[in-house]
Amino acid sequence: MVSCAIIGATGLVGSTFLKVLEEKKLEIDEYYLFASARSKGKKVTFMNKEYTIEELTEETPKRKFTYALFSAGSSISDKYAKEFNRYGTIVIDNSSRFRMDENVPLIVPEVNIKEAYGKLLIANPNCSTIQAVVALKPLHTQYKIRRIIYSTYQAVSGAGINGINDLIETSLGNEPKKFPYKIYNNCIPHIDVFLYNGYTKEEEKMINETRKILNDETIDITATCVRVPIFNSHAESINVEFKNEFDIDNLKQLLAKSPGIALVDDTKNNIYPLNTFATNKDDVFVGRVRKDFSLKNSINMWVVADNVRKGAASNAVQILEKLIYQKDTASI
Ligand code: A2P
Repeated sequence: MVSCAIIGATGLVGSTFLKVLEEKKLEIDEYYLFASARSKGKKVTFMNKEYTIEELTEETPKRKFTYALFSAGSSISDKYAKEFNRYGTIVIDNSSRFRMDENVPLIVPEVNIKEAYGKLLIANPNCSTIQAVVALKPLHTQYKIRRIIYSTYQAVSGAGINGINDLIETSLGNEPKKFPYKIYNNCIPHIDVFLYNGYTKEEEKMINETRKILNDETIDITATCVRVPIFNSHAESINVEFKNEFDIDNLKQLLAKSPGIALVDDTKNNIYPLNTFATNKDDVFVGRVRKDFSLKNSINMWVVADNVRKGAASNAVQILEKLIYQKDTASI
C-alpha cells in the first residue's frame, strides 16, 4: 500500500500539489491532507473524492506514510520533516529549511534526479532557481559556464495568496499588507529580507542553490531579484559567460532538444516567452537567445515559467514520480 501525505494542503502550493497529482495519476493508493488547526475538518474534492483536512500534530509522523510532500513553511518543515523520516517516510520539502544542508539533495528532475534516489529527505529548490537551472544545465554540460548574471521579474504568486491579494487590493487604491510598498504600478527590488552584504535572501538563494544543483562551486554568479505587478509566472533575464566557444545556432538547437525546455524564439514574428503563455504549464520557456557582443563567449536569454507549478508544486511532484518509477528509469 503506497500512501502520500500532503502537508500544507490548503495553501497556494499545497492546492497546486493536488491539481498536479490529479493530472498525473501516480500509483499512490491513499492520500492524506494536512494543514493547521484553522483548517481542520474542511472538505476538499480531490481525485473525484471528498477529503477532510486533518490537523498536523506530533502524532501525525507516527502514521508511517510512504511519502510526504511539505509546503507549510520552513518552521513546519524544521519541526516535522525529520520526524516523518524517523518513521520511514520519504519527505519532499518545498521550504528553504534544508536546501543548503550538505546531507540533503536539492533536486530538479531534469538536472540531478539521481541524487534523490535512496534519500529520505529531498529539498525542492527556490522557484526562480528551478526555471534557471533547467535552462542552464545543458549549456553548462556543453560549454562550461564561467559566470551568470540573473535579473528576475517575479510574479506576486511567489509570495502566496497574500501576494496575489496585495496586487488586487493595491490596484483598487488600498494599502499593501504583504509587500513593503504598493505592488500595483511598481517594480519592487526587494524579495525576502536584506542581508549584511546588500543582497536579499532571494538573491542569495539563487546564487547558492544554482551552484549546488549544477554541482559546481566555481561558477561566479550575481543576481538582482525584483517583484513585478504580474499575477503568475516569473521571467528572468539571464546573461551567461562560457569558458568554451559556441555557435549560437547549435546552442539554440541544444536548448530546443533538452528536457523540460520549450524554445520559443522567433523574433521575426515577434514570438518570445510570455508570462500568460507559461502559466498553467510545466515547461520552462526560453527565448530572446542571442550573443552578448560585449563579452567573448557569452549570451543573453529570457526564461519564463509558472512559478507555482514548475517553480514549486510540479517540480516536487515530478520528483515523487521519478521516485515511484525509479526502477523503470534507472537508466536515466
Ligand atoms: P492553513 O490554511 O490551515 O493555515 P501559503 O504558503 O499559501 O500561505 O500556505 C501555507 C500552508 O501551510 C497552508 O496550507 C497552511 O494551513 C499550512 N500551515 C500553516 N501553519 C501550519 C501549521 N502550524 N501546521 C500545519 N500546517 C500549517
